Amino acid sequence: MLTNMTSLTEFCIQLPKVEAHAHINGSLSPQTLRELVARKVDMNPELAAFTIPDSLDRIDDFFALFKFIYQLTDDESSVAHATKRVMEEFAADGVRYLELRTTPRANLAKGMTKQSYVKTVVSTIQRDCPGTMVTKLILSIDRRNTLEEAQETVDLAIQFAKETNMVVGVDLCGDVMKGSFLALKPAFERAQQHHFNITLHFNEVKENIPEAPDLLSIHPDRLGHATLLDDLSRNTIYQRNIPVEICMTSNVFSKTVATYERHHVKELMDEKHPFILCTDDKGVFASELSNEYVLASKTFGLNRERLFEASFKAIDSIFADQETKDELKAIWLTWKKDHQYLFVE
Ligand code: IMP
Ligand code: ZN
Repeated sequence: MLTNMTSLTEFCIQLPKVEAHAHINGSLSPQTLRELVARKVDMNPELAAFTIPDSLDRIDDFFALFKFIYQLTDDESSVAHATKRVMEEFAADGVRYLELRTTPRANLAKGMTKQSYVKTVVSTIQRDCPGTMVTKLILSIDRRNTLEEAQETVDLAIQFAKETNMVVGVDLCGDVMKGSFLALKPAFERAQQHHFNITLHFNEVKENIPEAPDLLSIHPDRLGHATLLDDLSRNTIYQRNIPVEICMTSNVFSKTVATYERHHVKELMDEKHPFILCTDDKGVFASELSNEYVLASKTFGLNRERLFEASFKAIDSIFADQETKDELKAIWLTWKKDHQYLFVE
């Protein structure tokens, strides 16, 4: 009898995958954080004491972590190092197409402007993206931004999309309890006029529900999380077939979803609604993308065929043209043909 000794974990690492929701500064592995600390600890010994907690009591505690992480990526060379490592780690985990996202950040004391921040990320992607993977960039607008700051991010997206073909979208992220989407809406509309795809962190906590109609009014191309759906949001998302970026560990870790078993991806799977399994912040939540596939498999009984199907279907929801999607699909299908033995369970 044919038996397959490859573990589920190994299968999920080898499986070609799309990662579409990964914040650069949340994706720094313990090893990368140590490397970044080592570069700065002489100047700032306090950095050596920092550790990422094992779990968080509330999602609010999560946003506080970035006060520390941002001290490690406060100059161009550290941003380049972080970006390079994040790409290498995703590639080593079997990611073949990566949409990284990041919030342009300035630190004038170290000569870093928002523009030089984005330039650093873009040129690091151009120079250091591993050959097995394509990397694109989404620029994030933080909910705490003023409209002027949000427009500056859109300016940067326009500039770098012209100079390279790398910037593919604009995101709304940041502290779920702060800011208002309506104040920032004109910036997203301008991004759409310039043909950027839009993804919005959506309904992570119940306090976000009242503004859901405003977010949906701009017709986003994808939604992040979409954890708590009132009837209007649910109907709109299903009617428009809006793909959802699913980050199971992130949600359970930050306690916006009670347990893996009760995760809303189950409903999306039952409804055959498009979703992409993603990590969100693989450094903070200590979960590689392959682990998200393992979790989905163990929690919902998905066999290897279904895991492949989930990864393959995710290609339809990436921010790329049909030609790129078809090329990726061909890579996926060739991989499957060459690795049939891995599907024997
Ligand atoms: P950066 O944009 O590369 O600096 O990545 C870190 C930033 O991503 C944080 O400051 C947050 O604003 C944002 N972020 C990461 N995860 C989440 C999330 O789950 N919800 C909202 N914002 C997030
Ligand atoms: Zn996120």
